[in-house]
Amino acid sequence: MPLTFDDLLARARSLPRGGRRAVLGIAGSPGAGKSTLAEALVRELNGAGGAWAAHVPMDGFHLADAELDRLGRRDRKGAPDTFDAAGYAALLRRLREEGDGDGDGDTVYAPGFERVLEQPLAGAVPVPPAARLVVTEGNYLLLGTGAWPRVRSRLDEVWFCEVPEEERIRRLVARHEEFGKSHEAAEAWVRGTDQRNADLVAATRDRADLVVPEPALPRPPR
Ligand SMILES: Nc1ncnc2c1ncn2[C@@H]1O[C@H](COP(=O)(O)OP(=O)(O)OP(=O)(O)O)[C@@H](O)[C@H]1O
Ligand SMILES: [Mg+2]
Repeated sequence: MPLTFDDLLARARSLPRGGRRAVLGIAGSPGAGKSTLAEALVRELNGAGGAWAAHVPMDGFHLADAELDRLGRRDRKGAPDTFDAAGYAALLRRLREEGDGDGDGDTVYAPGFERVLEQPLAGAVPVPPAARLVVTEGNYLLLGTGAWPRVRSRLDEVWFCEVPEEERIRRLVARHEEFGKSHEAAEAWVRGTDQRNADLVAATRDRADLVVPEPALPRPPR
């Protein structure tokens, strides 16, 4: 039987055990549908108005442009060393530790990523004490270098979104255009700078606990 979205939902629902908060990671190349999958899972798991699951994107740990300029890495934005991986690992540890009680702890705030400004934004993503499952997603959850293995060690499972390369590129170009880039600039970015990052991510596929094939991935809501 091919894997379906309902199978993913059931697997995600079973991750928190014995009152402990679980953290599910979703990895995949840029534009593979990680955010769309995380949002669909959280939406379905929460139903109307619930707070059982929360979505915490790795995107919020992008270094700010001012810091990338200082480091001389602005032109490689999106590469593994342009994120605060150690800060991300520390937040994931806090999410695990503070979620183990009886639901009367603090709301933990994660940073978000503002797509028009392309900058991180502190305090944008609340994780309420009641959340039993945190779904976090990003390119580099399975990378073996830098602080990324520390990130992996905070995750109960990591799933990998697999989408045929041409389709992935088509979606990514369309999204860059939607957020203001010209078609030419979008193509150049996706097939140039971003492709190096995509290749790094593709090489981590076999470390995943589950590879999610394209047919099981949800479509974005209209
Ligand atoms: N199943 C699908 N069918 C068609 N389009 C999709 C599908 N899933 C996602 N998309 C579109 O493809 C683009 C990329 O999806 P999404 O943002 O979920 O990917 P991502 O892996 O989070 O990307 P990034 O690495 O850039 O954060 C979005 O514009 C989204 O609306
Ligand atoms: Mg995303």
